[in-house]
Amino acid sequence: MQTRAEIRKHIRLSRQQLSLQQQQVAAEKLVEQVLLLPQFNTSQHIALYLTNDGELDTSLLIQALWQLNKQVYLPVMHPFAPGYLLFVAYNKNTLLQANKFGILEPYPECQHIIPLAKLDIVFTPLVAFDNKGNRLGMGGGFYDRTLSQLPNKHATELVGLAHSCQQVAALPTESWDIPLNTIITPDKIWQFS
Ligand SMILES: Nc1ncnc2c1ncn2[C@@H]1O[C@H](COP(=O)(O)OP(=O)(O)OP(=O)(O)O)[C@@H](O)[C@H]1O
Ligand SMILES: [Mg+2]
Repeated sequence: MQTRAEIRKHIRLSRQQLSLQQQQVAAEKLVEQVLLLPQFNTSQHIALYLTNDGELDTSLLIQALWQLNKQVYLPVMHPFAPGYLLFVAYNKNTLLQANKFGILEPYPECQHIIPLAKLDIVFTPLVAFDNKGNRLGMGGGFYDRTLSQLPNKHATELVGLAHSCQQVAALPTESWDIPLNTIITPDKIWQFS
């Protein structure tokens, strides 16, 4: 089995090599898949991410959610608790600033922060996944740390978004890795619990 570092390197390279057209098609299919998600209609507060490093493009999905009057939130690196994420409301007028990784984030103003447990769905980026719902991220542990604080994991749907090329046969996991309930690729919804 490859190490986590080897898998990250190899899969990041494959997704960075997807063409703009492949990314565009994937973004359109993602919207269709998310609308088919059984939990979608009853979900109002939805965390997403802005695309980086060849990740599945969420821009069309965010537009679709705004049109459906869903509340969208983005992860922000916690200013006082290193390694943790806050989720902050995101709409058409939200001002964004780049964090230390160059990823755009809203300003973490108190009145725009949602408590983690109030999120109905958290869509996470990922580097690699397997057919058991295991997730390998970029290696910061940000989602693992933050999601470990959920009081009742079953009340929040944890959904990984990925290109099909990010699937691996089996991921080496660690005790702190938080598995996903669902993984969505442009062609398929995988539900694990
Ligand atoms: N709940 C936690 N408490 C403390 N440290 C943690 C926790 N979860 C993960 N970490 C630390 O974070 C580091 C990176 O974890 P890991 O390799 O699983 O990241 P990742 O899942 O790829 O990243 P991310 O969650 O940001 O997508 C590890 O060294 C691990 O010890
Ligand atoms: Mg992890």
